[in-house]
Amino acid sequence: MKKFWVETFGCQMNKLDSEQFSGELLKSGYEPAGGLDDADVILFNTCSVREHAEQRVYSRGGTLKHRKAKEPGLVIGILGCMAQQEREKILDHLPHVDLVAGPDQYKNLPRLIEEARESAEAVLATRHTAFIPQFDRLAAPRENPWQAYILAMKGCDEMCSYCVVPRTRGREVSKPIAEIVEEAKVLAGSGVVEITLLGQNITAYGEKEGKELADLVEAVAAVPGIRRLRFVTSHPHHATRRLFRAMRDLPNVMPQIHMPAQSGSDRILAMMKRTYTCAEYLDIVAMAREECPGIELASDFIVGFPTETEEDFAATMKLTEQVGFGYAFIFQYSPRPGTPAIRDFADDVPADVKLRRNHELLALQEKMQLSKNRARVGATVEVLVEGRSERNAEKWTGRGPDNRIVVFEGDGDLAGKFVNVRIARATALTLYGDPVREPAAV
Ligand code: SAH
Ligand code: SF4
Ligand code: F3S
Repeated sequence: MKKFWVETFGCQMNKLDSEQFSGELLKSGYEPAGGLDDADVILFNTCSVREHAEQRVYSRGGTLKHRKAKEPGLVIGILGCMAQQEREKILDHLPHVDLVAGPDQYKNLPRLIEEARESAEAVLATRHTAFIPQFDRLAAPRENPWQAYILAMKGCDEMCSYCVVPRTRGREVSKPIAEIVEEAKVLAGSGVVEITLLGQNITAYGEKEGKELADLVEAVAAVPGIRRLRFVTSHPHHATRRLFRAMRDLPNVMPQIHMPAQSGSDRILAMMKRTYTCAEYLDIVAMAREECPGIELASDFIVGFPTETEEDFAATMKLTEQVGFGYAFIFQYSPRPGTPAIRDFADDVPADVKLRRNHELLALQEKMQLSKNRARVGATVEVLVEGRSERNAEKWTGRGPDNRIVVFEGDGDLAGKFVNVRIARATALTLYGDPVREPAAV
């Protein structure tokens, strides 16, 4: 039997895609390899969002050159966003690659791999489709049996000037609510208690059909057995009052939202084509907190966007301080081929300045996180346990409703269970505590 090996880079969307196409391969008679070395098919599911992500794949792919020369029957596939972004350019860098296939081709992956095995030429499959194929969710291997992603929509119609995603993932297409609910039922029936709905621009869910994300969230929250529902990633300008109310009123919709601000400077936000000003972003945050008190916000920031001055950066620092995010991902601007920003603006912020701003913003964010986390000391939090702590195998790790990591000691096998933990101490990244019998307050 042929064995396959998958390495996944990039975001949750790629993680879900890898699960789903692995399911297709298992159904077609492949079995998982124990490692890269004993695989007959090696697949890299790649990310294009920053140059560094692509470089990692090029160097990882480069190490397979000699092996391919010795084992001509080996199939090496580059999948994911790089396949869509780079296409035949991948073959210039990695001539020993047999297959380049984009995200809309995964339903055909078993067939494409066979074609690649039989053909002397590399197979290129990067056409976008206007529909979302349905995968057999029970065939798709997941990290654990109690958590699952569901693809709610694909693509992105925003035009953020720096971003490759609209090119790599195509136009927005929403999956019908009924299909998603059916998928949630199948997953719940197999023991899933936490679902995360995925979309690059999930707050725009259903807009083309006259629906909104709140409709979907309400429908999935009603599926018996789903105790936690989350969704990512939200663009602020589509977020509605109704969505935040649903988060407040439905106990299984977690009070947490990843809603990237990207910058606090109006001038930079306009150049980014983010379609909101800093004041408008703050208004949306105020609306979120008014409708759903205690809601936890997370953000992404890009530092060193073209022409970003110290004053622009100070505005980002100020926004971070004003909002008090529970978490923030900070990225240094990386010019991407094919985006409006690379065409229109020179990448003129020096690397050392980008790095310094990255460190400064991170230090501020960690300070904010530490004080927010310390405020939780004494509270009792309901934790969905994910497994043993990586740092200390005697302890368990899981997440609270707000997505904070909670580490505690407990007896028996607690993986996949809900445990109430009283918080005793906190760092910027982690809450530590002990299991208690009393009900959780949050
Ligand atoms: N669809 C999501 C995520 C997009 S990619 C969203 O809109 O929120 C994840 C993050 O990568 C973005 O939020 C942005 O902060 C960052 N990013 C995207 N393109 C980038 C680039 N060219 N350089 C640096 N960071 C980038
Ligand atoms: Fe990229 Fe903007 Fe779409 Fe997010 S919303 S995927 S940053 S274009
Ligand atoms: Fe990367 Fe593609 Fe996700 S570019 S961030 S893997 S959608």
